[in-house]
Amino acid sequence: GPLVLAAATDEVGVVAARLVADHVRGHPTGVLGVATGASPLRLYAALAELRAEGLVTEGLTLAALDEYVGIDPGDERSYHSYVVRHIAEPLGIPESRVLVPRGGTQQDAERYEATLRGLGGVGLQVVGIGRNGHIGFNEPGSSRHSRTRVVALSDDTRAANARYFAGDADRVPSHAITQGIATILTASTIVMVASGATKAWALDAALRGPVTAAVPASFLRTHPSVTVVADDEALPPV
Ligand code: F6R
Repeated sequence: GPLVLAAATDEVGVVAARLVADHVRGHPTGVLGVATGASPLRLYAALAELRAEGLVTEGLTLAALDEYVGIDPGDERSYHSYVVRHIAEPLGIPESRVLVPRGGTQQDAERYEATLRGLGGVGLQVVGIGRNGHIGFNEPGSSRHSRTRVVALSDDTRAANARYFAGDADRVPSHAITQGIATILTASTIVMVASGATKAWALDAALRGPVTAAVPASFLRTHPSVTVVADDEALPPV
């Protein structure tokens, strides 16, 4: 099963960044899969610090997990903007090598799958975990065979992300385009970061409960190379 590394809250990102850096050293022109959201911000900042110390990141291609439907890439709330601002710019990666799913149709979704496939797939994938157990925007009920597709966001996820939309869950887009579970599991290695008590239910269910579509992150346990970096609030020691 997944390797679990416990870290102090302010060290989760640093510990995870070291794992990512080890991979990047071996694959400096590879595809780095990136999550957005609050959880990996420290990881990306720590990677930029490692770059300042000589880690070569400029040759990477970045591939995002997901994007809102109906939010333009240029909108500051888009995941495209997040990846450019928090990852590509600090790591010296040109926007031409920033890949984010885009659009709201099955054809758009299939195009993103084909793009990833054409690049040989993702090397290391960074993921967070939603408080309902989602990964990417694969909400509870998502099949382990799911591929990139357009999905409806759950009320819980829209509430969790309301902070980016003037605190109003009704303004959070109702749909997103996301890599599927099967897509995520094609990455050669996966690093999850989680911190804080709001993730405790989901992380416990994902790591210690049944492998089930009710908790999509539990499917990570079917992958041979997953490392979870979590603080004690997110994953209380047993
Ligand atoms: C974002 C993503 C989501 C987040 C999850 C946790 O690209 O795929 O699954 O990782 O919603 O979000 P935060 O880190 O903001 O708590």
